[in-house]
Amino acid sequence: MKKVGIIGQRGMVGSVLMERMRAENDFSNIEAYFYSTSQVGQEPPKESAGDALLDAYSVDELKGMEVILTCQGGDYTKKMHGELRNSGWKGIWIDAASTLRMDPNACLVLDPINGQGIRDALNKGVLDFVGANCTVSLLLMGIGGLMKSGLVDWVSTMTYQAASGAGARNMKELLNQMGYLAKHSDFENTSAHILEIDRNVNSSFRNSDFPDELFGAALAGGIIPFIDSELENGQSREEWKAMVEANKILGTDINPDMKNIPIDGTCVRVGAMRCHAQGLTIKLNQEVSEDTIKECILSSNDWVKWVDNNKAETVKGLNSAYISGSLNIPVGRVRPMNLGPEYWNMFTVGDQLLWGAAEPLRRMLNILSE
Ligand code: HSE
Repeated sequence: MKKVGIIGQRGMVGSVLMERMRAENDFSNIEAYFYSTSQVGQEPPKESAGDALLDAYSVDELKGMEVILTCQGGDYTKKMHGELRNSGWKGIWIDAASTLRMDPNACLVLDPINGQGIRDALNKGVLDFVGANCTVSLLLMGIGGLMKSGLVDWVSTMTYQAASGAGARNMKELLNQMGYLAKHSDFENTSAHILEIDRNVNSSFRNSDFPDELFGAALAGGIIPFIDSELENGQSREEWKAMVEANKILGTDINPDMKNIPIDGTCVRVGAMRCHAQGLTIKLNQEVSEDTIKECILSSNDWVKWVDNNKAETVKGLNSAYISGSLNIPVGRVRPMNLGPEYWNMFTVGDQLLWGAAEPLRRMLNILSE
């Protein structure tokens, strides 16, 4: 059994990872040691092979591991990955953070889509394996089969991203904003006119004590069409990631026989808790039937689900609120568009903490145990 060091297991992604690893009995395949940046020496999770939390900043304590899996975040990776590699450590580093994603020596992990690519990378001696951006992983879990079919010219993705993508504290801020609006709007007063209630809501957004410290704006009752930092070309960094990371997973970025598929759109933060949704415009390079599209999509993996394009099935089947906690990736609203016969509309949803973060990492660990 491999000695695996786990870091960041108490954070939000780490906690989801622990839940999934317990549910799938993954700890029976590994000898797990847990590290901490702040509670060294304290009691570790019950699955630990050691009797205390180890020091996540100690190269000496990390070096004894064959595999390190970190959900500790980008700053930790920036600090410790280089130090550990410079010390001569040749183990496998599995990471949730974005820091190493575009490093040519790192492989992005989403095995239902690039399982062969991951195994080829391992055979070639690649040592760094990184989870992709959540919207990218969820997009490819949804339409990866179509993307691999050779039928796609380009994809426009308009995202509807949940508060969880910004972090645990942001999820609480969203709920605080909802609570603030409920408290200050007088909406429970049955004699209050809706326009009066709406005026109360509107003035609440501008109150100095409206809780928007983290988002910098209203997410309850509003949307924020900018995620991550600004780039020179006018994209947000979140928007930039879609094309570079998706093509890296598909292998279209380096394979001379394949074309890089352009992907672009606007990434928007909405008041959902932990499921990201994406409205897609897909330009195909030929006219095909809906059945062909359905077959491409459903043959890709066991988690993608087809939602027929009708209102009754869509309102719940493609609703962020109901996908939460599920590994299913529904794809629906599939229809040809007025733009021309090669243009298709689609919509997909997924839990950004599961396939968007924790699931590809725990599956990478299992690939190492094969
Ligand atoms: N960048 C994502 C978001 C988080 O802000 O929603 C997961 O990659």
